[in-house]
Amino acid sequence: MLSLEALSVFYGGIHALQGINLVVEDGKIVTLVGANGAGKSTMLNSIVGIVKSASGKITWNNADITGRDTKDIVGSGLVLIPEGRHIFPNLTVDENLRLGAYLQKDKDIIQKNREECFTLFPRLKERMHQHAGTLSGGEQQMLAVARGLMSSPKLLMLDEPSLGLAPLVSKMIFDIIRKINALGTTILLIEQNARAALEIAHYAYVLETGMITMENTGAVLLNDDRVRKAYLGEG
Ligand SMILES: Nc1ncnc2c1ncn2[C@@H]1O[C@H](COP(=O)(O)OP(=O)(O)OP(=O)(O)O)[C@@H](O)[C@H]1O
Ligand SMILES: [Mg+2]
Repeated sequence: MLSLEALSVFYGGIHALQGINLVVEDGKIVTLVGANGAGKSTMLNSIVGIVKSASGKITWNNADITGRDTKDIVGSGLVLIPEGRHIFPNLTVDENLRLGAYLQKDKDIIQKNREECFTLFPRLKERMHQHAGTLSGGEQQMLAVARGLMSSPKLLMLDEPSLGLAPLVSKMIFDIIRKINALGTTILLIEQNARAALEIAHYAYVLETGMITMENTGAVLLNDDRVRKAYLGEG
């Protein structure tokens, strides 16, 4: 289980996260909904130690990981696929995948993860030797997700995986997220496409200018008037 208690983050004078309390239970899909600039990416970046918190506590599987090194955090199974695709364009698909396993020393596990990625994303298998920079946008996003999976995450955090993708490709990414979850990986998902995220989420939080203002099951929030108006483009 991952939990944030009273987590606070500043960028200079900007109070980007103002006392966040949030729990991600094992095996679940949890989503964080919020407008541009609400602090969603900041939250994920602070969980993996890229952004330092000013106060509060982050607990992962009973260990206090607040302020720990990103490398240790990733090694403990908390993996972030950041906003934007951040793949290496001049390396092949396969080379990108192998880099995703840079903390993994066991060759058998690397091979097993690679096979699993190719099962989930047959398109990446077909394009194994293609330079990543020549993949389509959707394929690059698949590669970013697959590369995250190469480090054997226990909890996979995805920051806007469907950004800029056509509806069909986007749907495919959501299906894959559900599949990854069904195979045993806990998911913390951030999405501009709030409807699709709430539809697959067991539990959801609404973040407004650095504060959690609502939380409930995905199903309840999908039917909430405030959520419908502010995030689902209704009414
Ligand atoms: N490195 C930084 N230095 C200063 N301010 C920052 C920095 N990173 C983010 N911010 C500010 O903190 C706030 C939260 O940003 P964040 O990127 O977490 O939002 P977000 O919810 O992910 O938004 P989006 O949906 O647009 O990705 C914004 O006002 C942003 O301008
Ligand atoms: Mg963001």
